[in-house]
Amino acid sequence: MPTLKFAVLAGDYIGPEVMSEALRVLEHAAGLHGLTLQATYADVGGAGIDNHGKALPESTLRICEASDAILFGSVGGPKWEKLPPKEQPERAALLPLRKHFTLFANIRPGLLYPELTAASPIKTDRIPDGIDIVCIRELTGGLYFGKPKETTPLPDGDVQAVDTMIYRKSEIERITATAIAAARSRKKILCSVDKANVLETSVLWRRTVTDYVARHAPDLQLSHMYVDNAAMQLVRNPNQFDVFVTENMFGDILSDEMAVICGSLGMLSSASLGAGKNALGLPFGLYEPAGGTAPDIAGKGIANPCAQILSAALMLRYSFGLEEPAARIEAAVRKAVTSGARTGDIAFGGPSVGTRAMADAVISAL
Ligand code: IPM
Ligand code: MN
Repeated sequence: MPTLKFAVLAGDYIGPEVMSEALRVLEHAAGLHGLTLQATYADVGGAGIDNHGKALPESTLRICEASDAILFGSVGGPKWEKLPPKEQPERAALLPLRKHFTLFANIRPGLLYPELTAASPIKTDRIPDGIDIVCIRELTGGLYFGKPKETTPLPDGDVQAVDTMIYRKSEIERITATAIAAARSRKKILCSVDKANVLETSVLWRRTVTDYVARHAPDLQLSHMYVDNAAMQLVRNPNQFDVFVTENMFGDILSDEMAVICGSLGMLSSASLGAGKNALGLPFGLYEPAGGTAPDIAGKGIANPCAQILSAALMLRYSFGLEEPAARIEAAVRKAVTSGARTGDIAFGGPSVGTRAMADAVISAL
């Protein structure tokens, strides 16, 4: 029986609540497809700080290294807010994990079922069929990692801070390859988003994407858009995009915009794929819901587990090459939601169910 060896980093607040439901769904799907789960739990984020003094403890890193993928919950919250910025769970856990495993390709599906269009802040007549787009964000380069990155007091008494935006051609090429694969699996339309009218890195970005697609994917229809325009087009007519690819910070911002127009953060999954391969010869990856730790609803059993469940499906697809159970879980979530099982965030004031009942509905739909 194929064994799925993965690390479970549930994190803080609603993280563990939605994680345990996702694992129940995964176990059920594994049973149906003859798979064995080998999940190893480890602390991360605030739980790492509380139990080991560090947001990303060494022991957690070792467990991840010995696994074929990471199923991630979410980290951070008011409890650790007073720590210096560099020690905050988000920055001290997620960014080093991305760097350590070179998780350069962040795939964020922006999916809104037609049945849930009322959850979107966009007028429903503009998105009669819902939304179905994909954001591919470069995740280990640009402003978030470039050096120098520092704050310096100046001789004249002023203070100056600098972040550095750096991109190598090779970094742009590998994320373009990911975007090409995503576009080929869909409508073969790719939009590259940059700020080439102002930034040097964007000029290189646009030239590199253009050349790479011309050489490796002449079958694709490639377009380019400035990021400010893209932010506007995304709310004006989201489905004009199919797959869009962009650098780290632009992708951070645009993917949050995409998340809100898709109704609820509780429905959105993401995959961060590494440059390295796992023991199965497939991309090592980290899979996490797009929403945060939601401290305001933690402990109440009402958080939406769907994003975590869908992230587990992405893990099956990309790091274990198991398309069939992945698609089956995705279909089950869709069926459960559209047939009326809904947590508060997607219930529009109608009857709602709790975290566990939502997962139960997905399991019956499986
Ligand atoms: C995300 C998050 C992270 C990011 C933070 C927590 C560092 O917002 O995954 O988008 O900005 O990359
Ligand atoms: Mn973000």
